[in-house]
Amino acid sequence: MPSEKNLALLTFGCQMNKYDSEKMVGLLENSGIRLTENLDNADVIILNTCSIRDKAEHKVYSQLGRLSPLKKKNPNLIIGVGGCVAQIQGEKILQRAPQVDLVFGTLNINKLPKLIKEIEETGARIADIDSNSDIDTDSATIKRNGTVHAWVSIMHGCDNYCTYCIVPYTRGREKSRTKEAIFAEIRGLSEKGFKEVTLLGQNVNSYGKDLADDIDFPDLLSLIDKIDGIERIRYMTSHPKDLSDKLINAMADLPKACESLHLPIQSGSDNVLYNMKRGYTSEEYLKKIDKVKEAIPKISLSSDIIIGFPGETDDDFEKTRDIIKSVRYDGIFLFKYSPRPETPASEFLNQIPNDVKQTKFEEIMKLQNEITLSKNKELEGRVLEILIEGRGKNDNNKLMGRTRTNKIVTIPSLTKEGEGGFEKEDLTGKLINVKITKGNLYGLDGTSVSVSS
Ligand code: 5AD
Ligand code: SF4
Repeated sequence: MPSEKNLALLTFGCQMNKYDSEKMVGLLENSGIRLTENLDNADVIILNTCSIRDKAEHKVYSQLGRLSPLKKKNPNLIIGVGGCVAQIQGEKILQRAPQVDLVFGTLNINKLPKLIKEIEETGARIADIDSNSDIDTDSATIKRNGTVHAWVSIMHGCDNYCTYCIVPYTRGREKSRTKEAIFAEIRGLSEKGFKEVTLLGQNVNSYGKDLADDIDFPDLLSLIDKIDGIERIRYMTSHPKDLSDKLINAMADLPKACESLHLPIQSGSDNVLYNMKRGYTSEEYLKKIDKVKEAIPKISLSSDIIIGFPGETDDDFEKTRDIIKSVRYDGIFLFKYSPRPETPASEFLNQIPNDVKQTKFEEIMKLQNEITLSKNKELEGRVLEILIEGRGKNDNNKLMGRTRTNKIVTIPSLTKEGEGGFEKEDLTGKLINVKITKGNLYGLDGTSVSVSS
């Protein structure tokens, strides 16, 4: 029986990192290192880092600085750094931060227990970012955060090399998982009672291109749609240049494919899109959006937008405003451009000063908030199906669920008669029809109409 030790895990960044953290927790729990909330009594602390924006490296080093006293108090404490900053910085982290014992990459998470054991036995300090273990983790091992919704990676890496983006350098080249591995993972989830999956990949539309099997992303969606018990399928992220008619039709036809699409445009200006190397024009993008709206009238749309890309003019910025008004996204993720080391755009002339980025950022935020609120208000009075995920975030007497269009709905708890009188019904994982009573900026309020399953 392995000895009981405590793991503290700090996760930064995107869904892929959250999923990787679920893998790390499962792998380490299998070797007797259990997750704890408390940094102070941890035997192993791992930082799962993100490098997509801002001064990511700087943040990691200051976080590591805060962990130094813990290491002084407990010299046996093992501090590990994984994720995207680790992949880029490698050995340098060991040099700059003497409190760190382990640096591991995004492609060798499966080796984590072995690497930790080696450190425990030899006291060595290890940086291992080059080795490439099997990227699939046994799905039974993954320790899910939640019981209703699960992330499932269908591919790793990205081959697009958008000029601002560090991901191809931190997550490697595109590599699809086999349909058998994905299918087994989702079947296992359904057996455990999960109802909803979000398929993850930097560019899911490229799924299958590197596989011997003749399969593409819409084919994969059709296969997953047949898995009993799974009620809803989502995915992210789609690259607009690769969004095919076949995928739009699959989304329209497959009962479990949710009416929600994240299709990052990044900018409304063709000049900027060209300099970003995105591979589409704003007109081509809008044509695809029209097709999607026509095929799936209830679709909710979201996007990523970057403000202040090098050389962006007032005119370019206006074009981004125009496209937001024209698409009327349900929500956007808005970012100020941040130069990333080694990426082409970081070397471009005409970098935009931060105060200009900030002003424009606020302008776009205001515009989008108006659109989001008005779209949410349009839903007042409508009856929508929600999948209950659990109790409300700020109010224990409320329940929280999501619509198929990925909007958060809060409803009052339901009660049922139990042995000791009326008690709150546990509806986690149930589909409920709710009437929307109020559309807010950050979600909807509703009341239950009927519980369907
Ligand atoms: N600066 C700002 N935003 C970025 N993103 C990626 N790289 C950068 C960067 N250097 C944004 C893009 C992408 C999202 C995940 O992060 O909008 O779609
Ligand atoms: Fe980055 Fe572009 Fe790949 Fe998205 S498609 S991960 S923005 S390089």
